[in-house]
Amino acid sequence: MIRIENLTVQFGGVKPIDGLTVTLDKSIVGLIGPNGAGKTTLLNVLSGFVTPVNGQVSVDGVVISEIPAHKRAHLGLRRTFQTDQIADDLTLWENVEAIADHAGHATHADAQRDVQRAIDYVGLGKRIHRKGSNLTTGERHLTEIAKALIGKPKLVMLDEPGAGMSESETQHLEKVIRGIPEYCGAQVFLIDHDVALIVACCEETMVLDFGKLLALGPTKEVLEQPEVRRAYLGDFEAMEAAA
Ligand SMILES: Nc1ncnc2c1ncn2[C@@H]1O[C@H](COP(=O)(O)OP(=O)(O)OP(=O)(O)O)[C@@H](O)[C@H]1O
Ligand SMILES: [Mg+2]
Repeated sequence: MIRIENLTVQFGGVKPIDGLTVTLDKSIVGLIGPNGAGKTTLLNVLSGFVTPVNGQVSVDGVVISEIPAHKRAHLGLRRTFQTDQIADDLTLWENVEAIADHAGHATHADAQRDVQRAIDYVGLGKRIHRKGSNLTTGERHLTEIAKALIGKPKLVMLDEPGAGMSESETQHLEKVIRGIPEYCGAQVFLIDHDVALIVACCEETMVLDFGKLLALGPTKEVLEQPEVRRAYLGDFEAMEAAA
């Protein structure tokens, strides 16, 4: 469960998050909002890359606001990046294994098993020897997710994993995301512009609008709210056309 209280982030004159108070307790939570709404900034606060000027954040009852980023990974707060962090000159296996080196497994064999399990889970078991540079955009995003599943994740935060994916890749991604709570018991926090993916995966969705909470609740109800429809009309038309 994520509790955010009176959170404000300021960069110079810009407040990408402005007095946000929200509790997110469903197993897969969506986060949508227009470009520049503060979505990635919120994820950066949760993962410790950005320090808020005000407010408090806790995950499963642990106040994380004061804990540095590298220690948060040990707490099980894991994320992917909007711009993926795959090393082009390493193989897929080596990219995931690099995370396992710091994940606190009891033995090397345990770490190797965890790497294999995560790669198999995201469906890339046949690609382990492929260099990062030879992975497709979709495979890179799935590799990022595999990295986030190493160790004992408690909260897995995904920043636009569906960007640049084909329709069939997105269908596979949907299954991968929906299965994460069962795979490792983690809560999932999903940012994506693909509203159909959010609907398919997220029991609950919050809408950010330039630092303010525009809506929060069961995903379909939130998407029916007039102010949300106004912000998302383009995506809705695309979604209805696809249905
Ligand atoms: N490190 C930073 N320094 C200064 N301004 C920043 C920084 N990071 C983000 N911003 C600004 O904060 C605002 C919110 O950005 P953020 O990346 O959180 O948006 P977003 O909702 O993730 O958008 P997108 O959908 O385009 O990814 C933007 O105006 C952005 O320019
Ligand atoms: Mg972003």
